[in-house]
Amino acid sequence: MTRILLTGSTGQLGQELQRTLAPLGEVIGVGRETMDLSQASSVRQRLVEAKPDFIVNAAAYTAVDKAESEPELANAINAIAPTIMAEEAQRLGATLIHVSTDYVFDGRKNTPYMEDDTPNPLGVYGRTKLEGEEGIRDKCARHLILRTAWVYGTFGQVNFVKTMLRLFAEREEVRVVADQLGSPTWAADLAQAIHALACRCSETTLLTQTSQELEQPSVPMGTYHYTNSGVASWYDFAVAIFEEAKPLGFPLKVQRLVPITTAEYPTPATRPAYSVLSGKKISAVLGSHPPHWRQGLRQMLEEFYSYKHESTYSVGR
Ligand SMILES: NC(=O)c1ccc[n+]([C@@H]2O[C@H](COP(=O)([O-])OP(=O)(O)OC[C@H]3O[C@@H](n4cnc5c(N)ncnc54)[C@H](OP(=O)(O)O)[C@@H]3O)[C@@H](O)[C@H]2O)c1
Repeated sequence: MTRILLTGSTGQLGQELQRTLAPLGEVIGVGRETMDLSQASSVRQRLVEAKPDFIVNAAAYTAVDKAESEPELANAINAIAPTIMAEEAQRLGATLIHVSTDYVFDGRKNTPYMEDDTPNPLGVYGRTKLEGEEGIRDKCARHLILRTAWVYGTFGQVNFVKTMLRLFAEREEVRVVADQLGSPTWAADLAQAIHALACRCSETTLLTQTSQELEQPSVPMGTYHYTNSGVASWYDFAVAIFEEAKPLGFPLKVQRLVPITTAEYPTPATRPAYSVLSGKKISAVLGSHPPHWRQGLRQMLEEFYSYKHESTYSVGR
């Protein structure tokens, strides 16, 4: 049976992947207690023990602002650990699927970033994620690096949607940055894309592959961009959250959503002003386009509402 080692299984993407990848084989979800990514020896030892066919790395140091004051820890988790995963994947003949970020770019373009555009991260988080990518390319032939952006989901601790819902319930006025553009991405859609890529990796026959899937060309190894389609500012995203949450019955005290500039909301880490990623490459490989971000948002809010309010909620989609 195909063995898939999944890191970050408690995170918002990792929890989605835990169930999305399950039909493909045995998913070994690891958290920091069994594989601490800040400890190189822990990473290596766990991989030697598990001998996976696939490593799916959904773990990361994701606290973008805090990373500015913890660069060594961010580097250990985002740069050194993925490089060790790449070394071990190469040794085991495994495929490494690694999740990276739009924050490897500086956001100075005004057309969607292509996979081969030159990265220029603005902060510690983006810089350490870029070093992780470079370590993987250097050490492991069978790798897929999937850059994504503006991820939110039902599971995991905090994300923009959950923060907005909390603020909408507490305040009459909420101020939201309107001069940063990106593509909000539902973790469940991203997990489906990773599933589709894993299904199309050659040399490993996955449990559920049908004869039709086996006939499809395999995915060329390398770097891909995946986000939901469409472009929004954080302000546009907040307005949509309000509009979609209202008919569902979320408690909403908010009366005014006020667009502000990045300069009016200073943060320790500088964010790219434009972080739209082109999905042309992955769409050509998978033969389908990602759903629009607003569709993903609607589905997430429906799911989140059920999750919060119905004890009979089932995790099966
Ligand atoms: N969120 C976004 O907007 C966004 C945007 C672009 C790219 N990405 C990328 O997408 C991937 C998934 O992000 P996410 O949003 O799902 O992040 P998340 O919800 O913050 O989850 C991060 C995961 O990493 C784990 N982790 C952190 N430090 C660890 C350590 N020392 N050892 C082991 N595990 C550790 C966390 O475990 P604990 O639960 O124990 O903390 C958690 O499971 C990451 O590669 C991230 O860089 C995210």
